[in-house]
Amino acid sequence: MSRIELSKVNKYYDREHILKDVDLVIEQGDFMTLLGPSGCGKTTTLRVISGLENPQSGLVTIDGVAVADPDKGKFAPPSKRNLNLVFQSYALWPHMTVFENVAFGLTVKKEAKSEIREKVAGALEKMQIGEYAERYPSELSGGQQQRVAIARAIVSQPKILLLDEPLSNLDAKLRVDMRAELKRLHKDLNTTIIYVTHDQVEALTLSSKIAVYFEGVLTQCNTPEEIYNNPSTLRVAEFIGNPKINFLKGSLKSLSGDKLGVECDFGALEFGGVKGRDGGVARLFEREGAGCGVTLAIRPEDILVSQKEMEGFFSCPVTSLLPAGSETLLELALGDNQLMAKEIGQRRYEVGQTVWIGLKQNRMNVYESAQGKLVLRAIED
Ligand SMILES: Nc1ncnc2c1ncn2[C@@H]1O[C@H](COP(=O)(O)OP(=O)(O)OP(=O)(O)O)[C@@H](O)[C@H]1O
Ligand SMILES: [Mg+2]
Repeated sequence: MSRIELSKVNKYYDREHILKDVDLVIEQGDFMTLLGPSGCGKTTTLRVISGLENPQSGLVTIDGVAVADPDKGKFAPPSKRNLNLVFQSYALWPHMTVFENVAFGLTVKKEAKSEIREKVAGALEKMQIGEYAERYPSELSGGQQQRVAIARAIVSQPKILLLDEPLSNLDAKLRVDMRAELKRLHKDLNTTIIYVTHDQVEALTLSSKIAVYFEGVLTQCNTPEEIYNNPSTLRVAEFIGNPKINFLKGSLKSLSGDKLGVECDFGALEFGGVKGRDGGVARLFEREGAGCGVTLAIRPEDILVSQKEMEGFFSCPVTSLLPAGSETLLELALGDNQLMAKEIGQRRYEVGQTVWIGLKQNRMNVYESAQGKLVLRAIED
């Protein structure tokens, strides 16, 4: 078992408030990714979990046992937490070979030589660096060193693995290979992994859960699908997804039974099934009434593009064309709104050409503009 729980954790460096009331539960076997812009507190969270930093308030438990309890002045040292940490800067020992670096922890524990050899060979093999066993870190590329650091972390089969941007030094191809490798590793080892990245594709690919941070506040923690389909705030919506999600300004018009009417500057939209997908829009309507400002969010792939006029579609000019090999991105002007649409495959359009677009309304999220909070969820395709 290895379940980690952070409750109302606050961390300050001097007077700077870094982690703000962070509540986070990491279940046994989770691949939890901490995601957010630079400086939002991802590394600090790992340091607090591992015991390299102590929070000023809150509680951190591992398997129900308090490892950081500032109220009682109780902090377990890192060595007593049965976890292993790989940092952004991976700090291999320069005077030791790759083999010795990876073997070090086992040697300290005085394991049998034959056993050590077997375990190290296995870890090097997993990270595809078996051929470098006798080299020194200075004789390896950054990416190879990073893989040695991961091998060193997994060789002792820790219950919890903390990885802080372990793929940041790899080139694009190796990065994709290593993503698949890490995913396999997670399955094989059945370890709880806490992973830090600011690469959202990596987060969506690898994780069983994603925790999105902004400025020390944990804004949303859920499965990759839920984070992608129903971002809880406009900020999360904008941060997740490439190309970016589209926003359209509108205002509430009517709510009758299960139907919500929204007025936008390009016309009226009606959303059905409101009760089933309610994220609070009924309460918002009750409180603010018609005219309340909302923001509609729709992903580029949920905009349908037609060269011919179609019923229910809006006409708009193509303002820019961005072919990207396997997909075609179109920039469109809908009234005052700039929209990005994504089509699979290579399509032929011309800049200036008029096209007709359909918005998959089921896939739209509605946010209250003032607070940026989700009030109507999208419906699964
Ligand atoms: N030892 C320290 N003393 C003072 N401030 C620190 C210290 N370590 C981190 N900080 C500050 O805390 C904030 C959060 O830092 P942290 O390293 O957790 O960010 P991060 O999310 O990991 O960012 P990145 O993606 O750039 O690695 C930053 O503003 C940083 O400057
Ligand atoms: Mg960091």
